[in-house]
Amino acid sequence: MTDRYAVIGNPVAHSKSPGIHAEFARQCGHDLEYGRIEAPLDGFAAAVTAFFAAGGKGLNVTLPFKEQAFALCRRTSQRARAAQAVNTLVFEDDVYGDTTDGAGLVADLSRNLGVHLAGRRVLLMGAGGAARGVVASLLDSGVSTLVIANRTVDKARALAARFPPAQAAAYGDLQGDFDLVVNATSAGLQLEEIVLPHGVLNKRVLAYDMVYGRRTPFLAQARQCGARTADGLGMLVEQAAESFEIWRGVRPATRPVLERLRAG
Ligand code: ATR
Repeated sequence: MTDRYAVIGNPVAHSKSPGIHAEFARQCGHDLEYGRIEAPLDGFAAAVTAFFAAGGKGLNVTLPFKEQAFALCRRTSQRARAAQAVNTLVFEDDVYGDTTDGAGLVADLSRNLGVHLAGRRVLLMGAGGAARGVVASLLDSGVSTLVIANRTVDKARALAARFPPAQAAAYGDLQGDFDLVVNATSAGLQLEEIVLPHGVLNKRVLAYDMVYGRRTPFLAQARQCGARTADGLGMLVEQAAESFEIWRGVRPATRPVLERLRAG
């Protein structure tokens, strides 16, 4: 029987995950099906249970259900517990949850963008779910400094306190000298701009927006300051490869998939 997987979210119609996993499966010669499930906002657990009961092998979980997914797992990985969120569910005798977002970001930076994170000074913008999902991976990659900045500074303080030696700051108090600036806020989705002090974005910085498929004000601002820029498409493909490996035991090649997506 063909193994069945899906991405579950709301909305989910525009998710690129089915196409990405179909290419991974072809590449690895695996017989699997990967669909989309739009769960009602109040019906996530029921949709997961139904998929599992019908023989589904695994799910990717996207917004706004990653925290709910964490809550319903019997077992979770250490990195899922750090993020308090799950984007990959594995159905065996029970429900196991992992999160591949942080590993996806680090893999995109190191493999696709050639950034050696060890010893780098990193600014992470945002303290919501997206930021929480990548803090542990950034620290594990050996960065020398991780500053978490957020509009609501108390949220940045609370997040940094859970992940020493991360530090917290308000945007207005930031001073330059970062090698990498990662935007993990949802501001760009509403085309809202976050004003950073002069000098934070400059030509020595890589400005990375975890959002993809949009011209965000953050990347526009970074380009104007001469910074190198990247969107989150590579992270999307890398986190998918990590999920595929958890489910199927092999790591697919990401570069051809990323190139095809970039070519549109
Ligand atoms: P997600 O799961 O995408 O991270 P979230 O948990 O709602 O969503 O968090 C959204 C993040 O984007 C928060 O860090 C939020 O800042 P606040 O905590 O101050 O709300 C940030 N954000 C959203 N819109 C923003 C804006 N216009 N300017 C600055 N930060 C913004």
